[in-house]
Amino acid sequence: LSNGLAQTPQMGWNSWNFFACNINETLIKETADALISTGLADLGYNNVNIDDCWEAVTRDIQGHLVPHSNTFPSGIKALADYVHDKGLKLGIYSSAGVFTCQVRPGSLFHESDDAGTWASWEVDYLKYDNCFNLGIKPIDRYPPMRDALNSTGRKIFYSLCEWGEDDPALWAGNVGNSWRTTDDINDTWASMTSIADLNDKWAAYAGPGGWNDPDMLEVGNGGMTYLEYRSHFSIWALVKAPLLIGCDVRNMTAETFEILSNKEVIAVNQDPLGIQGRKVKVTGKDGCLQVWAGPLSGNRFAVVLWNRCSEGGTIKASWDSLGLESNISVSVRDLWEHEDVVADAVGSFGVPVAAHSCEMFVLTPKLSHFRV
Ligand code: GLA
Ligand code: GLA
Repeated sequence: LSNGLAQTPQMGWNSWNFFACNINETLIKETADALISTGLADLGYNNVNIDDCWEAVTRDIQGHLVPHSNTFPSGIKALADYVHDKGLKLGIYSSAGVFTCQVRPGSLFHESDDAGTWASWEVDYLKYDNCFNLGIKPIDRYPPMRDALNSTGRKIFYSLCEWGEDDPALWAGNVGNSWRTTDDINDTWASMTSIADLNDKWAAYAGPGGWNDPDMLEVGNGGMTYLEYRSHFSIWALVKAPLLIGCDVRNMTAETFEILSNKEVIAVNQDPLGIQGRKVKVTGKDGCLQVWAGPLSGNRFAVVLWNRCSEGGTIKASWDSLGLESNISVSVRDLWEHEDVVADAVGSFGVPVAAHSCEMFVLTPKLSHFRV
């Protein structure tokens, strides 16, 4: 969507994956505080997004959305002020249906009213869900909110959460700043890997202004191992997915923080070229040894060697699978070890990778290749 936003994939935090409906204004404020104190905000995680359950169960007497008086007694404007004072942005949630998924009032047929409400609260971001949609097609339900948000005059990031219904990559490029390509993620290796595969199909449609959204991060929520979460984060970064943290950032382990704060991996996600990396090669049993890769600015390539097998194995990226000429020499930097590992690889590059783990690299062609 050309509203000037989403030149790179959105980063931040969302309440749903860890807290579900157990949210309140204190949690949101403490999360904003933690994003600052941990340094995550400085790394780019600047959206603090409230998901479902912030609303009272009915609209007020004038028909306006109102926050639940027990959990958000100070109101959303006060929360926006708090978050803005820290240099962060506030996100809100509703549904393109008559109710949200947790049966709070939805915004279908209330688009301009609700967009006006959020703009008056100085909200910066809307996640717009798909529950209770009366069977109306997403392509008919999502553009009215785009137009309503646009009419407020406030820049509001528009994140479609239509669960991949009707192949949004094909129609959402001028509707939203991101669109979900799949059903909800859950905190398991099986869910994460299958979503990565489903999302891959739509790579060609992502770019500055509008991104494929394979759903929010589960890193730190406990259902996967350290190495599995490292894979999750590496692949989400490579495929230019939104990097929306879904754990309790007030109580992260050192390992969770190490993953989420990897600057070099984040830089791949936020690369200005904005091309979604893809699964380019599979070998091994059932294709479980995988090369995922994509171009970066400066003629560089990002490569993830992803071992989805139940045992270790060597994975090799060959230049032809990357679209590089075979005689080109590159230097190789390891983004998890934070070191340059090879000065001049030619033709291919491979390493042993542990089960359910990945290694991630940036390949930089020697400058001489670009001099004539
Ligand atoms: C409302 C309440 C919350 C919680 C949820 C559960 O949002 O404000 O405290 O009870 O409902 O759905
Ligand atoms: C849907 C969305 C989730 C979350 C929940 C909230 O399932 O896909 O991301 O927002 O609703 O109820």
